[in-house]
Amino acid sequence: MSCSSPDEIPADFHRIGLLTRRSGQPVQVPFRARLLKPTALAEVQDIHQEALRRLPEPGLVRADSEAFFAHHFSGEGRTLGVFAEDRLIAYGILGLPAGPDYRYDRFLEDLGLPAGEWPRMAQLIGVAVRPEWRGNSLHRRLCEWRLELAHTVHRWQIAAVSAPGNPCSWRNLLAAGLRVKGIKLLGGQQLRYLLHADLRGAPPLDSAGAVTVEVSAMTEQRRLLATGYWGYAAVVAQNVPQLRYARPLPP
Ligand SMILES: CC(C)(COP(=O)(O)OP(=O)(O)OC[C@H]1O[C@@H](n2cnc3c(N)ncnc32)[C@H](O)[C@@H]1OP(=O)(O)O)[C@@H](O)C(=O)NCCC(=O)NCCS
Repeated sequence: MSCSSPDEIPADFHRIGLLTRRSGQPVQVPFRARLLKPTALAEVQDIHQEALRRLPEPGLVRADSEAFFAHHFSGEGRTLGVFAEDRLIAYGILGLPAGPDYRYDRFLEDLGLPAGEWPRMAQLIGVAVRPEWRGNSLHRRLCEWRLELAHTVHRWQIAAVSAPGNPCSWRNLLAAGLRVKGIKLLGGQQLRYLLHADLRGAPPLDSAGAVTVEVSAMTEQRRLLATGYWGYAAVVAQNVPQLRYARPLPP
């Protein structure tokens, strides 16, 4: 198997589509998604800051530094941007760690993957949509496009984290095929689901043995995860967010 480097990410990657909602109202506005250059740093940070200001509770999204964003335009990452009406309206960061010296999220270690998998890791490590454009499935699409990019450079091991209290985030990660495989404290204090997918394939889940747990029931979820269950589907019952867990079937 050949070993591709992050340099082979296609620089001309782009996607077009139609936005159908703005601030909840029906519209028809075309969008274009493409890889961003470092000159987009200020606009990306502006979207990030706006998202932080509007969080329903602090800690649901990590406040990332200018250095973090600057680091992921080339080399150990790429940043996808979505443009509409000549303005950046969303971004999604793909982390492509070169190896153990990578100075940001270390999901390989969190997932217990062997160190030999560093060149196979791709991390979905930051995303936000400007509030008026939410509800157009841009996050799900940004996840799918980043998985496509990861696939082109043979980075099969996809990892991400998402706050249990941020279902708008983890629902889209589940929809893109990631599964909750752990719970971690980001930066030692921010509670996060740890999600993972292997793009080479995953065993089917034993849905007959599935259990549904309230997202707030952390002890129960930790117990399920410790006994080999994966979180795979969002359920909402009487306005209470829940997560369905099942074990992968033996090969
Ligand atoms: C997570 C996020 C990117 C999802 O945006 P999106 O792709 O536009 O969301 P979706 O299209 O999946 O929205 C699905 C529904 O949730 C609603 N929704 C999306 N984000 C929402 C939010 N932050 N608060 C309340 N409702 C939200 C949408 O309006 C839509 O409603 P509908 O079902 O009534 O149509 C967006 O909420 C966001 O930018 N949040 C702040 C940053 C963040 O949380 N990032 C993830 C962790 S790093």
